[in-house]
Amino acid sequence: MKKEKLLVTSALTYANGKLHIGHVAGSYLNADIFVRYQKLIENDVIYIGGTDDYGTPISLKAEEEGVSPKVIAERYNQSMKKDLEGINIQLDNFSGTSRPRHIEISQDFFTNLLEAGYVTKKTLKQLYDKKYKRFLADRYIEGICPHCKAEGARGDQCDSCGKLIDAINLIEPKSKISGKTPVIKETTHWYLNLPKFEEELRTWLSTKTYWKDNVRNFIFSWLNEGLKERAITRDLNWGVPIPLENTKGKVLYVWFEAPIGYISSTQEWAEKKGKPDLWKDYWLNPETKLIHFLGKDNIPFHTIIWPSVLMKQKEPYILPYDVPANEFLNLEGQKMSTSRNWTVWVEDFLKYFDGEYLRFYLAANAPESKDSDFYWKDFQAKINNELNNILGNLANRTFIFAKKYFDGKISKPDNLSEYSKKTLKEADKLAGYIGKSYNNYQVRKATRLLMDIARSGNKYFDETQPWVEIKNNKAKAEETLFVCMELLRIISILYSPIIPKSMKKLRKMMNLNKKILWKNLGKIPGKFEIGKVSQLFQKIEDSEIKKQLELLKATQKGRKEMIKHKEEIEYDDFSKLEFRIVKILEAGKIEKSNKLIKLKISIGGEERTAVAGISQSYEPEGLIGKKVAMLINLKPRKVMGVESQAMILSAEDDGKFAVLVPDKEVKSGSEIL
Ligand code: 2FM
Ligand code: ZN
Repeated sequence: MKKEKLLVTSALTYANGKLHIGHVAGSYLNADIFVRYQKLIENDVIYIGGTDDYGTPISLKAEEEGVSPKVIAERYNQSMKKDLEGINIQLDNFSGTSRPRHIEISQDFFTNLLEAGYVTKKTLKQLYDKKYKRFLADRYIEGICPHCKAEGARGDQCDSCGKLIDAINLIEPKSKISGKTPVIKETTHWYLNLPKFEEELRTWLSTKTYWKDNVRNFIFSWLNEGLKERAITRDLNWGVPIPLENTKGKVLYVWFEAPIGYISSTQEWAEKKGKPDLWKDYWLNPETKLIHFLGKDNIPFHTIIWPSVLMKQKEPYILPYDVPANEFLNLEGQKMSTSRNWTVWVEDFLKYFDGEYLRFYLAANAPESKDSDFYWKDFQAKINNELNNILGNLANRTFIFAKKYFDGKISKPDNLSEYSKKTLKEADKLAGYIGKSYNNYQVRKATRLLMDIARSGNKYFDETQPWVEIKNNKAKAEETLFVCMELLRIISILYSPIIPKSMKKLRKMMNLNKKILWKNLGKIPGKFEIGKVSQLFQKIEDSEIKKQLELLKATQKGRKEMIKHKEEIEYDDFSKLEFRIVKILEAGKIEKSNKLIKLKISIGGEERTAVAGISQSYEPEGLIGKKVAMLINLKPRKVMGVESQAMILSAEDDGKFAVLVPDKEVKSGSEIL
């Protein structure tokens, strides 16, 4: 079969922070699994990525730290590279867009478009921060989305509806640097004439019937609203300078030049290989399938703007073949947020767990067609119940048995039983589906089907009972072990894109070839010989998960508590409650209770007794004379022998109480309405 040529990319991550699980689930793990599969089937594939070094988040961070943006970009480029290696994401090249080569090629791209008549200069009104004397582009500004009215929309895009925004259209805009409402001022910018591309884009996009539904829906709703000209320059001092005279302080818009980073990173790769022109074999070769892995917020840039830019270059660049976009990964039921530290940083994860566990869990739980969630408890369950109890168990019991009774040497029986044949045939069938799943970016399905093979191996082991057969019919027991080992051999190939390190370990224990190839799936060996064996996986203890949950809670910033609300009630229910301000006349501890205080209260002269569970927060003496809010028509209840005829209202915060008091002087007995 003819080998395919593929160029795979992961969205370039902004170099303003460390790598977190959202990046991994969004565009790295799925790409890495896909690439590893392509290598298994011996296609010619290169995997390209890097950091997106410009953009306002990096400038903002640099300003915060008082260093140059280049320092920030370099720091996070290195840290991301290291973390990616830590979880075995194997890119062929990891570059950064602030490197000279990238600057040069981005400027060329701009010039080409300008000369071909697709870029126009315009004077326009923009938002300007008077205090800091600068125009507010993109993330320097926030406001209400003009499309969906969500708050917190940025100057370039709304996270709620995903639409692109022109900052000037934001409702109630606020500068992110001064917090003030900006003024409007004139400036000059260069615009990409997108309407001019519309027809060509439509024709090209109409061939993409095989794209994921979420991607197609997004694009067509965008196209149907009509394309508008978009500014591709900004007034900033960090970015690729515009290659024109007298344009100091003007740079290319990050979203214009960032995807060009895929090309400059490929060029860097070719150069490192000592074949500087090799990049052309991919980018200028119509046979190459260009596949961009990314998160859903990146769809419009990669499917409308980027192809337009590529179409009008002097050289015949290929256009994206596919854009498998993932949805978002949430954490513990909430949207991830790096500013609130509501995420799991890969560097931190690796301090406690093997990177393989992250790969496995995120593959099993990939946000392929809808948002998914990372729950620490679910993570533990998946690692323990599946990796350990199913796959680990199959390897463990097979190896231990083989070592004990056969010195680790298991030969293929001359004849296999029907059950053995069926078990192997079933695995072979699943292997076919798994291959298809990898090719279609369905890693969830691949992970599940693979576990089914291991599960069927355990069932087969249980039902053929080698521990009984070993006494009666040793050959039968050997047959069971052979079939189980063959399943493990198949699994070691099939699972290698998802958990490569563990599968390498498994193969080493089984003395199998180091080079893993898909075409060897059907080549059943005549015998197996086990080497030194050890546990494939380790279980995760409850205490380890508890610790992670505590760490997550302890390190988050400004998190709003998720409040579990009670069910709604009718106004009539509410109106039955009688709340009044009462005066505390006497207060004393209730013996044998370390929580309760006995109160004598006055409701406009009427005296009653009440019991309040607030003694951790109040000394009885301190309460005397206070006017507090109470519910006074609750049926009296006996508490530790004292009849309570009213209930005090207090706010609880982490086990501490604060009684509610009116903020002005009111007479005792006043009703609370
Ligand atoms: O959304 C992001 O994180 C962008 N930095 C992705 C850029 S992808 C490509 F265009 F470089
Ligand atoms: Zn919106």
